[in-house]
Amino acid sequence: RFVGIPTAPPDSILGLTEAFLADKNPSKMNLSVGVYKDASGQTPILKCVKEAERRLIDNETTKGYLSIDGLPDYREQVRSLVFGDSIDPSRVAILQTPGGTGALRVAADFIVAQLSPTRIWMPSPTWANHPAIFAAAGLPSETYRYLGSDRTSFDLAGMLEDLSQKTKPGDAVLLHACCHNPTGVDPTPEDWKAIAQTVAERQLIPLIDFAYQGFGEGIEQDKTGLNTLLEAVDEAFVCNSFSKNFGLYSERVGSVCLVAADNETMKAAQSQLKTIVRTNYSNPPRHGSAIVATVLQDPELTSLWIQEVDEMRERIDTLRQHFVETMKNTGSGHDFSFLLKQKGMFSFSGLTPMQVDELKSKHGIYIVGSGRINVAGMSEDKMDTLCQAVASVL
Ligand code: LMR
Repeated sequence: RFVGIPTAPPDSILGLTEAFLADKNPSKMNLSVGVYKDASGQTPILKCVKEAERRLIDNETTKGYLSIDGLPDYREQVRSLVFGDSIDPSRVAILQTPGGTGALRVAADFIVAQLSPTRIWMPSPTWANHPAIFAAAGLPSETYRYLGSDRTSFDLAGMLEDLSQKTKPGDAVLLHACCHNPTGVDPTPEDWKAIAQTVAERQLIPLIDFAYQGFGEGIEQDKTGLNTLLEAVDEAFVCNSFSKNFGLYSERVGSVCLVAADNETMKAAQSQLKTIVRTNYSNPPRHGSAIVATVLQDPELTSLWIQEVDEMRERIDTLRQHFVETMKNTGSGHDFSFLLKQKGMFSFSGLTPMQVDELKSKHGIYIVGSGRINVAGMSEDKMDTLCQAVASVL
């Protein structure tokens, strides 16, 4: 019966937006969920997306079901965007999924169904939804060291030690390809070589979360870690998302890619992935994937897209610098210049849960409990107010 069902706690990221919407404070700011805003405070529809939608309105002939693995043109474009020429296409299964979260859940369900008993090793910290998705799928998770004890640097030695000493062959390891969420602290290309070597030596299966392609250093540059890993191992999962780099948040468009050692293995694994999708959401929605395919199949729209991604990334970098400088001028005596090395939408501020709480209750400023601030949601005109509030809670 329904009576007595306990209330679940609010989601640690999306729950904050619910609280923000209910907040009556007129100067409230939502810097929690990773959504990009332009100078006018809007989450814009990219120009390349608008143009693709115009073309779809004119040319689309059906709303019939897609196949279980999604739109073929979309999958082909994901293949070339994510893998380029580096992997034999006959070794890769690509399934269109409802966003990156959908991709992670399909991958987790697959690991439980086909590779049990296995565990997944996640960086500490990681995106709050990672452990929740794995738990919901029944996939046991463990953590490896990632962030140094100074809370600003990457602990490569700690990560390699944990992966070498604690994992078992066949375990999965979650890696953020770029723009580590929530810290923005990424491995260098040299670090990736060492990580890839350890992953290969320990016979771990990488599950690469690639949700922020283009927000680190550029669309091609952000593949460095992924390419290095895929040179070292012959089996992997890649979960990508077009929520951020196409601004297609609510269209829910992403993919789960499975790289196998050979075509025969890939085909068997692909059939199992399709079973998982069929018994969950049957087949994915068309519109978002049709937009992505339309843009990436057209050289002019593709260059417009690259330009728009570059603009978003550069604006975030400028806002981050602006935040660091404005914090300096508050006279708080707290140096935030470590944020300048961080990549992606977020800044890992080092604020404690108590300070985060005070920002919310006293100033109506919402950031994630870990101290993660969505830089992509900041605005130039509210920067002084934000920094004064941060200074007052320090
Ligand atoms: C985030 O970390 O804020 C984004 O990935 C959005 C989400 O679903 O949590």
